[in-house]
Amino acid sequence: MAVEQEVTGVVSHIKGPIVVADGMRGARIREIVLVGEEKLIGEIVRIEGNRTVIQVYEPTEGMRPGEPVERTGEPLSAELGPGLLGQVLDGLGRPLPKIAEMTGPFITRGIKLPTLPRDVKWSFKPSARVGDRVVPGDVLGTVPEGAVTHKIMVPPNALPGRIVEMAPEGDYTVEEVIAVVESAGGVRQEIKLYHKWPVRMPRPFREKLEPTMLLVTGQRVIDTFFPIVKGGASAIPGGFGTGKTVTLHQVSKWADADVVVYVGCGERGNEMTDLLQHFPKLIDPKTGRPLLERSVLIANTSNMPVPAREASIFIGITYAEYYRDMGLDVVLTADSTSRWAEALRELSSRLEEIPSERGFPAYLPDYIASFYERAGRIKVLGRRDEMGSVAVIGAVSPSGGDLNEPVTQHTMRYVGAFWALDKDLAFKRHFPAINWLKSFSKYVAELKYWWIENTGYDMMEYRERAMEILQKASSLEEVARVVGEAALSDENRLVLLAAEMIREGFLVQNAYHEVDTYCSPKKQAMLLKALVEFYDRARPLVEAGVPMSSIREMSSVGLLMRLKFVPEDEFEEALKEALTKLETEASMLMAEVR
Ligand SMILES: Nc1ncnc2c1ncn2[C@@H]1O[C@H](COP(=O)(O)OP(=O)(O)O)[C@@H](O)[C@H]1O
Ligand SMILES: [Mg+2]
Repeated sequence: MAVEQEVTGVVSHIKGPIVVADGMRGARIREIVLVGEEKLIGEIVRIEGNRTVIQVYEPTEGMRPGEPVERTGEPLSAELGPGLLGQVLDGLGRPLPKIAEMTGPFITRGIKLPTLPRDVKWSFKPSARVGDRVVPGDVLGTVPEGAVTHKIMVPPNALPGRIVEMAPEGDYTVEEVIAVVESAGGVRQEIKLYHKWPVRMPRPFREKLEPTMLLVTGQRVIDTFFPIVKGGASAIPGGFGTGKTVTLHQVSKWADADVVVYVGCGERGNEMTDLLQHFPKLIDPKTGRPLLERSVLIANTSNMPVPAREASIFIGITYAEYYRDMGLDVVLTADSTSRWAEALRELSSRLEEIPSERGFPAYLPDYIASFYERAGRIKVLGRRDEMGSVAVIGAVSPSGGDLNEPVTQHTMRYVGAFWALDKDLAFKRHFPAINWLKSFSKYVAELKYWWIENTGYDMMEYRERAMEILQKASSLEEVARVVGEAALSDENRLVLLAAEMIREGFLVQNAYHEVDTYCSPKKQAMLLKALVEFYDRARPLVEAGVPMSSIREMSSVGLLMRLKFVPEDEFEEALKEALTKLETEASMLMAEVR
């Protein structure tokens, strides 16, 4: 990382991860410095005259005043190139397995390990030629990286120019020059298979597009009720044990995205151990191969200081944007953004900034926005007519499950979908425990045509009908709590039954059930349509005087509620059977009262 290698400063104070250095001439805010004899990685966060305040990403124990501080001249950057996929990295983008090999389970300090392996050769196939004029974002060639065709692009910060040298097809390490681009002013720019990008700066694109495509997650309550789009942002807040991690894993596994970036910011050490054991075992249902082959996993282990946790989210989103820029759809999940915001709070307090709500700094909202606003569907740089997207999904884990705290409240303002987890639902084992009255998605209206075009069903229409039934049932339940269910009219008791069928037959979805774990959009549409139609078919029966007890006993009620467990290829047949049964039973009940 070191560029200038000049010793310009001396450590004067050490306070946990915050170090003050004197005499750092020419240093700039956000510059990376190497702190102390052990050259720990730090970032300049404040400059006050001769005093430079540095947040250090590695433990500072044992460091003393008087130790040197070196400048690097560079901001905190991510390495972007082939070899990212399949990696398990720490909060600074260093490969965890390699760190473990070098040091055993205890991370020693000052390890400088590049993210991308330097010894691996990648098979590069050029697609541009000497003499071609290129601009940032243009593709020079491709490298196969697992299931992804990795595009080697002119970096966004390069000058446009003419290709004057081009490597022939062959195997190259990331450090070898594969092209030279000469700018109009005569600047020779050597291009390698990788480049670096400052993580706190969003990568540029040509144009932001309106999000109109559903990000299919296969999770019914999400796709149908509170959908997220490709390039959308959503948050999933909830207390401990309400299902944040399971939901994020389900979304990572099933979403129709090309690449997944998973950032783990755990509080408890065992959460990260779980993640490191569990995530690499997830199987990609599309290929039958490990999901990790098209993912990057960032795990903030508990022995790393809080600043690393703070930085890791930005490193993760930079990786996501990089694959987006190739024209791919990417999903980034962060579990949990509360731990990340708490890292910010801790740093702010150590910097003795004036605290705002609950000790968080006043810039917390801007900070949360700087993460979620990097989600989007875009037209890529360069002269390609390609789109890419990054969808961002952040878990929020407010202490005590209190959704009124600042991180949840501010997050709510920057996301398009909000999946509010409910501890009562989780307690009843209604999973995903997404509360249908407190959650929202601003993408519903946009997606009306997506559903019609992709499934042939006007799903948002059934969604609205189902929502009416659920809302009505919720107010009836309030009433029933006071007067007892028996006091309700049969019309109202039918609403309760219809709501129960929608809850059990549609909203509840078992992540561990072979069939139920994923539900295609078409199956979702047909299933919800059938459940709403049940209500429409039963209503005239109740009006004609058929007792609710007889309606409840129809075998078609159970059939409809269990349809979700029928595999996709047998589904239409089973649905037809259930609806025929419903028709027969309804006609018989009607005949009885006539
Ligand atoms: N969709 C689901 N299907 C089945 N069980 C679930 C589902 N979501 C959550 N659970 C159950 O809830 C438990 C806690 O979920 P988890 O995601 O670990 O909670 P959190 O991350 O919010 O603390 C899981 O171990 C699992 O038993
Ligand atoms: Mg969790």
